[in-house]
Amino acid sequence: MKQIDLRSDTVTLPTPQMRAAMANAELGDDVMGEDPTINRLEEMAAARTNKQAALFVASGTMGNLVALLTHCARGDEVIVGDKAHTFVNEVGGMAALGGIQPRTLANQPDGTLALDDIRAAVRGDNVHWPRTRLITLENTHNACYGSPLAPAYLAAVYNLANSRGVKVHTDGARIFNAAIALDVPVTELTQHTDTISFCLSKGLSAPVGSLLCGPRDFIAEARRQRKMVGGGMRQAGVLAAAGIVALETMIDRLADDHANARYLAESIADIPGIELDPARVRTNIVFFDLATGAPSAVEMAERLARAGVLIGPAGERRMRAVTHYGVERADIDAAIGAMKSALNRH
Ligand SMILES: Cc1ncc(COP(=O)(O)O)c(C=O)c1O
Repeated sequence: MKQIDLRSDTVTLPTPQMRAAMANAELGDDVMGEDPTINRLEEMAAARTNKQAALFVASGTMGNLVALLTHCARGDEVIVGDKAHTFVNEVGGMAALGGIQPRTLANQPDGTLALDDIRAAVRGDNVHWPRTRLITLENTHNACYGSPLAPAYLAAVYNLANSRGVKVHTDGARIFNAAIALDVPVTELTQHTDTISFCLSKGLSAPVGSLLCGPRDFIAEARRQRKMVGGGMRQAGVLAAAGIVALETMIDRLADDHANARYLAESIADIPGIELDPARVRTNIVFFDLATGAPSAVEMAERLARAGVLIGPAGERRMRAVTHYGVERADIDAAIGAMKSALNRH
């Protein structure tokens, strides 16, 4: 039985072209700046995001951590959404390793932070207070239905930050999904942030790695912070080679994932026992709720798994399905069938 794995876009496997590029990658010691494949990937990432420089890191979590450690000193404060991956799912790294205090603001359903909330949260200069150093945004916003944050909103946050002497970092793990969904060049999103991290190992299907992009002097300091957290990976060009293929070949096809996610949402919205608004599905992430009387999310996940469909619980009655490379329209149809059967069982 073929398994249809909709738990996350992180389960994607490298393409045959990636595996060939990895096998043939030209390598060197990256801590010494001598891995030509990493150097090339970093140049590509900087060019794509229109930043001066970029740094290859092991994961999205490391990219965000290194960014925060570079932006902030101990005791500084970061404004962050209460549903942000950096706040919820990165093991408290900013506090544990950086002595950085998160100042959480409510994420709106579309993944934004209300401008008035940000305005009110930026602190003035007072000997009693931590310094507000940074605002972090997430684009697309994973926990907020994979919503893309639009250029006009990003510009408003950036202008506000600039006027108050605060920097902006974007967790752009899925920034290319955002650009495709909004039908804008990715640089229209990256121009409104000082620094941005993005992932190669989600929808872009590379096995490992993320890039942190920003000003040259910032990236030079981030390189030291990366070394400090153990991220100096030597001949990691073997990984970067797959990342180059990801950037060259895997971005445009994200539109297929979005179309599959929308199709899934529209197809299950009317199934008795399932509650969701398909209009909220703008990228590759589909959240849906199980109505009272339907099985719990854990029970539903178990029933689906027995039918070869993996969808993860995201709350007691909430589930999350993510479309990605390797999942075709026929797989979505099979998943829809499995969901109908799972809900019909008594
Ligand atoms: C929005 C967002 N940021 C950061 C990360 C962290 O990436 P990684 O799993 O590579 O550490 C994830 C991973 O799922 C994510 O969804």
